[in-house]
Amino acid sequence: MPEQLDKPKILIQLDSDPHPSVFDRVVAIDSGVDQLFSYGNVSVDDIEGLVHGAIFTRGPKDLAHTAIFVGGSDVTTGEAILKKVRKTFLGPLSCSVMLDANGANTTAAAAVLRAGRHIQLDGVKALVLGGTGPVGQRAARLLAREGASVRLASRSQQRAAEAAKRINEAVGKEGGGDAVTGIEVSDETTLLDAAAEIELIIAAGAAGVVLLPESARKQMESLKVAIDLNAVPPLGIEGVDVMAKALEVDGVTMYGAVGVGGTKMKIHKAAIAKLFESNDQVFDAEAVYDLGKRL
Ligand SMILES: NC(=O)c1ccc[n+]([C@@H]2O[C@H](COP(=O)([O-])OP(=O)(O)OC[C@H]3O[C@@H](n4cnc5c(N)ncnc54)[C@H](OP(=O)(O)O)[C@@H]3O)[C@@H](O)[C@H]2O)c1
Repeated sequence: MPEQLDKPKILIQLDSDPHPSVFDRVVAIDSGVDQLFSYGNVSVDDIEGLVHGAIFTRGPKDLAHTAIFVGGSDVTTGEAILKKVRKTFLGPLSCSVMLDANGANTTAAAAVLRAGRHIQLDGVKALVLGGTGPVGQRAARLLAREGASVRLASRSQQRAAEAAKRINEAVGKEGGGDAVTGIEVSDETTLLDAAAEIELIIAAGAAGVVLLPESARKQMESLKVAIDLNAVPPLGIEGVDVMAKALEVDGVTMYGAVGVGGTKMKIHKAAIAKLFESNDQVFDAEAVYDLGKRL
């Protein structure tokens, strides 16, 4: 047996919160990690030392058995940490790394994957409610990358337009176009305008906020699939149980947040396991989604 197969799998959890996420720790162990090194209160300034400790110990060949997970509830900090981690690697002295701060990547990937089971994403007209948050922006990005025409909603036209611009620039680099349009949704009238001809809605609003009232949903004749990601009552899509999983309601296929949770967990575990296949992988939203598609 080659020497590298005997090395224990070490996952280094870098979390910007004071207490490294218990959820992420349990998933790491359940994904086959042998040793979990958890660090809390991590900031970008700490990264160089932490990453050097990871890459200067095992030889390049064995670094496939060391990996980094970036978590924490602050997604912007998580993104900055991921960037710094990658910058700190020294050529072959690197290890695979995954970002799932606040569960944003796995949650957005799960929502889009679930939607794709019921509707052809290429060309679909989609509306992402709460689209300026980390999950909503990622869902919009993944949908645009699949060829969907996406309206990204916010209470502020400016925030919606800024988020749409950022996503179009990112997706454009991969050959997409101006697939995402920012749109203001501040009441039932603007919601119904935004939902005109829409076939897919992903509700990615803040916890405990209703973004799609039942009365409005019942007027949306083109709607085929609706997915809620808010598990905290009141739910994001009114009248749909949090456990709903591909439940047919008034001719619309509906998901509650827990209904999407199984797919999210599957993707999370698979991504952690995959980190240990080589020392050069980066799992951000797109890679997490692509992995989910192959499961
Ligand atoms: N199942 C899971 O494992 C899991 C993991 C992660 C997240 N989630 C859930 O996914 C959802 C999205 O997460 P996130 O972190 O992206 O959410 P977030 O950043 O807290 O909120 C998303 C957007 O909701 C809008 N919003 C906030 N308060 C609002 C209000 N009172 N009325 C209307 N809109 C409001 C904001 O957009 P504007 O200010 O631009 O309008 C905000 O950008 C949350 O419900 C979260 O709990 C679930």
